[in-house]
Amino acid sequence: MSELVITPTRREVAHGIVGHSDAMQRMLDRVEKIASSEARVLLLGETGTGKELVARAIHAASRRAAGPFEVLDCTAIPATLAESHLFGHVRGAFTGAIDTRQGAFQRASGGTLFVDEIGELPPALQPKLLRILEAGRFRRVGAAEELTADVRLVAATNRELPDDVARGRFRMDLYYRVAVVTIRVPPLRERREDIPLLVEHFVERFSAALGRSAPAVTRGAMARLVGLRWPGNVRQLEHRIERAIAVSRGPVLTERDVLVDDDLDDAPGAHRRRA
Ligand SMILES: Nc1ncnc2c1ncn2[C@@H]1O[C@H](COP(=O)(O)OP(=O)(O)O)[C@@H](O)[C@H]1O
Ligand SMILES: [Mg+2]
Repeated sequence: MSELVITPTRREVAHGIVGHSDAMQRMLDRVEKIASSEARVLLLGETGTGKELVARAIHAASRRAAGPFEVLDCTAIPATLAESHLFGHVRGAFTGAIDTRQGAFQRASGGTLFVDEIGELPPALQPKLLRILEAGRFRRVGAAEELTADVRLVAATNRELPDDVARGRFRMDLYYRVAVVTIRVPPLRERREDIPLLVEHFVERFSAALGRSAPAVTRGAMARLVGLRWPGNVRQLEHRIERAIAVSRGPVLTERDVLVDDDLDDAPGAHRRRA
């Protein structure tokens, strides 16, 4: 069983998760505590906060680390194909099923299945997911026989799933099966102290990808980045830095390089309008 990397002081990067804020450190503590158990985990957090990274960290720190890590994104599959994506199908099960296919559960056997945006799972599939979580058994679409899979489920949602349960959109029994442990991944605006580290991390990464040396970020630029709201969280910051590296030349990144027009009315310091 592998352990998350812990430095004697604080972990600034564990499994590619950058962040030294108390909020992130508390979250990583929780990840470590539950990783080696087989408990199912529901990750809660806004889009772009790093839920998939956390799911990968749980897998990497678990007894299943040598096994597969499979991702199933419920927003990326049409409702009609969702069952086949989860459980697979046999040849001829439906139009277009020209051969027998494994589903995500079978591919994840021995490892971890990460079900992203589980709140979007079509209602018709909820009892089927419940069945595999309770009995460990499932049926491929069009197959008579049942198969078994040994899978640890880690799910994520940016919805308030208990509200969906109250409204009858998400089955309560399934919710309790999935959310044995819940971990909240905090939005970036609640851990602004992580922003400089993340900026440097992405500046280095995107510069290296272009074979350039990493530019320095001016104090002014960093202060502005720290002050923005980041509704798209770390993903938005990552794209912002990628863009800045792509368009800038030279040894420093200034406010001009890292800001976009929309930032002008975003932060409290918005009076410093650029020409
Ligand atoms: N703490 C972090 N450190 C480094 N990169 C991060 C961190 N959080 C998120 N990212 C990056 O931001 C992007 C979005 O993360 P992701 O895990 O897909 O978010 P979510 O699943 O919550 O929408 C990914 O490219 C991921 O690598
Ligand atoms: Mg995601």
